[in-house]
Amino acid sequence: MTPPAAEAIAVRRLAAHEAAERVAELAAILLDCVEGGASVGFMAPLSREKAEAFWRRVADGVAAGERALLAAEEQPGGALIGTAQLLLALPENQPHRADVAKVLVRRSARRRGVGAGLLRAVEAVARAEGRTLLVLDTVTGSAAERLYARLGWIRVGVVPGYALWPDGRPCDTTFFYKTLPGS
Ligand SMILES: CC(C)(COP(=O)(O)OP(=O)(O)OC[C@H]1O[C@@H](n2cnc3c(N)ncnc32)[C@H](O)[C@@H]1OP(=O)(O)O)[C@@H](O)C(=O)NCCC(=O)NCCS
Repeated sequence: MTPPAAEAIAVRRLAAHEAAERVAELAAILLDCVEGGASVGFMAPLSREKAEAFWRRVADGVAAGERALLAAEEQPGGALIGTAQLLLALPENQPHRADVAKVLVRRSARRRGVGAGLLRAVEAVARAEGRTLLVLDTVTGSAAERLYARLGWIRVGVVPGYALWPDGRPCDTTFFYKTLPGS
């Protein structure tokens, strides 16, 4: 769907049945990120059951058309090494907007351009869905914050103590937006 994010990596949108079939792989990436200390909505320790329940709800959301799920797959073989989501179910007065969420890359696959590839694919899906304004938030001072800034996202500001690290310490959150050219 999009050019490879890096050598031997392909990023594509998963159909609802694929999302459901790959719950265990998606959960493994979430578990790896939380074990690595990422603040992505979960506290440590995160159980496999809880992680898989989260991805089953995501798969249901994909089936309902409420979200798009992207997968970064190693080639050949198709092993999942990263994922991202575009949240499409927004109030009726925001039909042009979507939220980006859960941009996750397995620790062993980082710093190869997978995150950037996922973000480019997210933008392509957003345009295909007719969305021209994207919003996201991320941990202030994180690798993710650098990634979004590098890809042209506009930093809105920081909310101190917005979320918690998996170990319970408070962390600051930076909000970003990006406008996409309309078709
Ligand atoms: C944020 C995250 C998704 C980035 O994924 P990634 O695949 O490592 O992203 P990229 O490879 O595109 O970029 C990361 C770094 O690698 C560098 N890089 C990219 N390709 C490279 C290559 N071929 N050789 C060397 N360095 C490279 C980038 O310049 C960037 O450097 P920086 O951190 O110093 O700015 C990943 O760190 C992650 O999953 N973190 C935990 C979860 C999280 O916080 N997600 C965000 C939630 S909003």
